Amino acid sequence: MGSKHLIDLEDFEVSRWESIINLAHNIAKAPQFYFGACHGKILATLFYEPSTRTQLSFQTAMLRLGGRIIGFDNPQNSSVAKGENLKDTVTIMGSYADIMVLRHPYEGAAKAASLYAGCPVINAGDGGHLHPTQTLTDLVTLSMDKGRLDHLKIGLCGDLKNGRTVHSLIKALSHFAGNSFCLISTPELRVPQYVRDIMDARGVSYTEVSSLEDVIGDLDVLYMTRIQRERFASQEEYEQQNSKYILDVKKMQLARPDMIVLHPLPRVDEIEIAVDDDPRARYFAQAKYGVYARMALIMNMLSDPDPKPLSEAQAPSLHCTNPRCITHVEPYLPQLAQQNNRCGFCDHDLAEK
Ligand code: NCD
Repeated sequence: MGSKHLIDLEDFEVSRWESIINLAHNIAKAPQFYFGACHGKILATLFYEPSTRTQLSFQTAMLRLGGRIIGFDNPQNSSVAKGENLKDTVTIMGSYADIMVLRHPYEGAAKAASLYAGCPVINAGDGGHLHPTQTLTDLVTLSMDKGRLDHLKIGLCGDLKNGRTVHSLIKALSHFAGNSFCLISTPELRVPQYVRDIMDARGVSYTEVSSLEDVIGDLDVLYMTRIQRERFASQEEYEQQNSKYILDVKKMQLARPDMIVLHPLPRVDEIEIAVDDDPRARYFAQAKYGVYARMALIMNMLSDPDPKPLSEAQAPSLHCTNPRCITHVEPYLPQLAQQNNRCGFCDHDLAEK
């Protein structure tokens, strides 16, 4: 049985990731052969937060498959502005569409939507938590450019605390043998504890460092990220962290000839424009591969007939300790608990009420 929804890439077995990645490779070779694969189907995109690539690559993917699209990219133009809750919005949109893509500022929002949507839900980013389809895009890019997903030394640099693409990518790559991570950030922007716990539990080797120059020469892949301004409590706190890591031509000279640079984009100032001309800069190709990854994902999810039941239990006496969890703003949601007593929506610790 497979998961009907994609909230966390780990909802799918690794073998299912591999078949989606293989399909993406085939689509990249001859996209025209896949036109019509989703004829008659409708994809809904519900974007409660800004997006360029994720939203438009999903829409492009569905249009290239011969399907159609509905949705909003500014909730203020929908009934959300009149006070409609997430449950009602996704219940209705799920009755109009065959598959739904949701981006939301609160952690666990896509999981919440999946309880009510009635159609498959894809998490296109839930606050600072996860971004599984960016990770699929990253895996497709690594398999295309490096020819493998294992035995890679991956440096992740920037806002490792709030960068949801970072959390999803570490979780995914920790399933493949021989990968190790070099986590490059200020002490304030290190990965959340739950991500560190996952690496520890899986015996994955990682180091946490503060200098990009010191480690760039050891890396197979450098994954740069933007400082996530919208997740900071104040502009002042953001400014204290901003512009600490800038990849420039000089630092690229310290890197191996076969190292590749990835970035989920958008870039602010963390990669100098001149680096774009270096053939090792692969972030624009990565964004293009995102369309093939999402075409493959939509085809796969629309053909999965056998949904897996919910794995979390209801825990009415507990509440989530993460103030950015969706359970704090959509109070009708049942509190879901994982077996390790973490929140079933956002992975943070639960506590007695
Ligand atoms: C990322 C996101 O939204 O998390 N962008 C994307 O989807 N490609 C990264 C970011 O916004 O920094």
